[in-house]
Amino acid sequence: MATPSPLGLLAELTHRCPLACPYCSNPLTLDAVEYELDTTAWSRVFDEAAALGILHVHLSGGEPLARRDLATLSRAARSAGLYTNLITSGLGLTAAKAEALAAAGLDHVQISFQDSAPEQNDAVAGRSGAYSRKRAAAECVVRAGLPLTINIVVHRGNIGRIGEMVTLAMELGAGRVEIAHVQYYGWASKNRAALLPTRPQVEDALAEVAALRDRYRERIAIDSVPPDYFARYPKACMGGWGRRSINITPLGKALPCHAAESIDGMEFWSVREHSLRDIWLHSPAFNAFRGSDWMQEPCATCARRDIDFGGCRCQAFLLTGNARAPDPVCHLSRDHGMLAKLVDAASPQPFVFRSRRAIDRQAPLMMGIQT
Ligand code: SF4
Ligand code: FES
Repeated sequence: MATPSPLGLLAELTHRCPLACPYCSNPLTLDAVEYELDTTAWSRVFDEAAALGILHVHLSGGEPLARRDLATLSRAARSAGLYTNLITSGLGLTAAKAEALAAAGLDHVQISFQDSAPEQNDAVAGRSGAYSRKRAAAECVVRAGLPLTINIVVHRGNIGRIGEMVTLAMELGAGRVEIAHVQYYGWASKNRAALLPTRPQVEDALAEVAALRDRYRERIAIDSVPPDYFARYPKACMGGWGRRSINITPLGKALPCHAAESIDGMEFWSVREHSLRDIWLHSPAFNAFRGSDWMQEPCATCARRDIDFGGCRCQAFLLTGNARAPDPVCHLSRDHGMLAKLVDAASPQPFVFRSRRAIDRQAPLMMGIQT
């Protein structure tokens, strides 16, 4: 079968970040600032991405605003013909920067909140004052004429406030709100017991999202990603390995997904030494779980193997130690029972933050997290 063309590029411009979220999706070992790809290298990557058929780029991090050349990079991506989306915490996004980004051709901004409640937002972000700075950033984005999406990561401590999250997004002038449950890879797996909701919480949240969509159909698009630990079938993670997207780390490594480095024994090629086309078509990592030849039973002969592609490879490796195993979210996996045990073992408890400073500052608030 011919290799499909990728559609999306996630450009992790930096791992620097002013926040310390307990579910951070950055890898456990962060790339150092002095080795980040420079403006010229990123601009070449954007040109190569467009030539490969990629349609959109997400400028992400860490916190992409930590890059002084962000407006230049936005312009380079737009000039390459890519739809350009900025994913930011909002910290550091002033009116002048929002206007400069709009002038550079940026198409869209996503601002992440940790919660609709200011105190809990700042507690989870590990930074006091973060909530009000995010609100101010959202106002700057709207005033600059850029379309806005609000992202909020949902977990045990805030899953009861989904209605307030949608209200917050509408107040800020967003056209879309993305309410996505924590994915338990990387740093989030350290906090899984504190973050996992109960089954009744999840059922209530699903019903609430359905009611909110109905109520606000004309006003805001509500996208929701429920926690897959409670599902019978896994998600088609990344739309299938090596089928739709490419992640580039700050150092220039090309990954099939943001968590791929968590799988032992993978070989990732760098955009410093290879073209994006060469990486997409020929690198060992992108070919490791493409198609279905790599699958084991029950996936190998399953009618859904071209629908969910066996689920998430990173989750299979994290939970079973075998990256070729079915994602344990699948009820046909022999490891499926472990998810119910992990859910039963969850309970409110302090988070493990990414920095000592954040732990000291936020520990009293975290102890009060809601069940
Ligand atoms: Fe998907 Fe594999 Fe489960 Fe079939 S057995 S539904 S392919 S994870
Ligand atoms: Fe890596 Fe799902 S996060 S395949």
